[in-house]
Amino acid sequence: MRLANQVAIVTGAGRNIGEEAAKLFAQEGAAVAVVDMDKVRADTVTDAINAAGGKAKTYLCDVSDENQIIATVDAVVADFGRLDILINNVAISDNKHLFDITKAEWDRVFAVCLTAPMLFSKYAAKAMIAAKHGGKIVNVSSTSGHYGRGRAIAYTSAKAGVINLTRSLAIQLAPYDIRVNCVVPNKIGSPVGKDEFNPDRKVLNLRNRPGEPIDLARAMLFLVSDESDFIAGTELFVDGGCAAMMPGGD
Ligand SMILES: NC(=O)c1ccc[n+]([C@@H]2O[C@H](COP(=O)([O-])OP(=O)(O)OC[C@H]3O[C@@H](n4cnc5c(N)ncnc54)[C@H](O)[C@@H]3O)[C@@H](O)[C@H]2O)c1
Repeated sequence: MRLANQVAIVTGAGRNIGEEAAKLFAQEGAAVAVVDMDKVRADTVTDAINAAGGKAKTYLCDVSDENQIIATVDAVVADFGRLDILINNVAISDNKHLFDITKAEWDRVFAVCLTAPMLFSKYAAKAMIAAKHGGKIVNVSSTSGHYGRGRAIAYTSAKAGVINLTRSLAIQLAPYDIRVNCVVPNKIGSPVGKDEFNPDRKVLNLRNRPGEPIDLARAMLFLVSDESDFIAGTELFVDGGCAAMMPGGD
């Protein structure tokens, strides 16, 4: 068990990628804080982990609210006695063109996708530092943070920010033995904000299949385990190799 006696927060753990990470971490021995704003989804994941012999608890939290983030970190430490791992997974997409998006929609996407990982990292790191045992943080970016798109103007901008947030966090938290990295997925499971998984989802990558949540969960597990001890401030593409392909190349 690679995460025995450790405590992990997974945000957006009620569905898809976060759900799979929460379940995999629990299988590896971690006690998991299943953080989501949707109670039914979060409780379903929590119940499944506990029924399988793991340890999990639901924490309802809208990650766009700083006070709810503080309360969540405090509650996790109070309930489990420590905090070792933070997965900043939650995101929403605007799917909007520049001329269609309102400032309120832009602000909401940035609050959830970029400000929330910063704030969660801040309060989680404070808890790790106070306990003097270090920790690991994994942020979830996207290939949308590397490339422009014809829609999702706010999401693509915020996801680019997540990559450099990762680098600065890695530098600023290194003195406290907190390793920070990020994963860069492309087309994993259902699209962001959607329930349905379409196995026929069109993909262009070197593996000729859409990614599945377990593909990303395994990469997250690697980045929070001791096996990645020498890896900090980096981005790990989990995209079937699609970012390696130049459009129009041969
Ligand atoms: N699905 C993909 O193909 C894909 C591709 C690239 C990147 N990603 C990234 O992977 C991560 C997970 O994506 P996903 O597709 O699993 O997402 P999802 O939409 O399936 O699940 C997100 C979860 O977050 C919860 N949530 C939404 N807003 C919240 C808020 N304000 N506070 C708390 N919880 C909230 C939802 O209830 C849901 O359970 C995201 O960071 C996303 O950008 C996903």
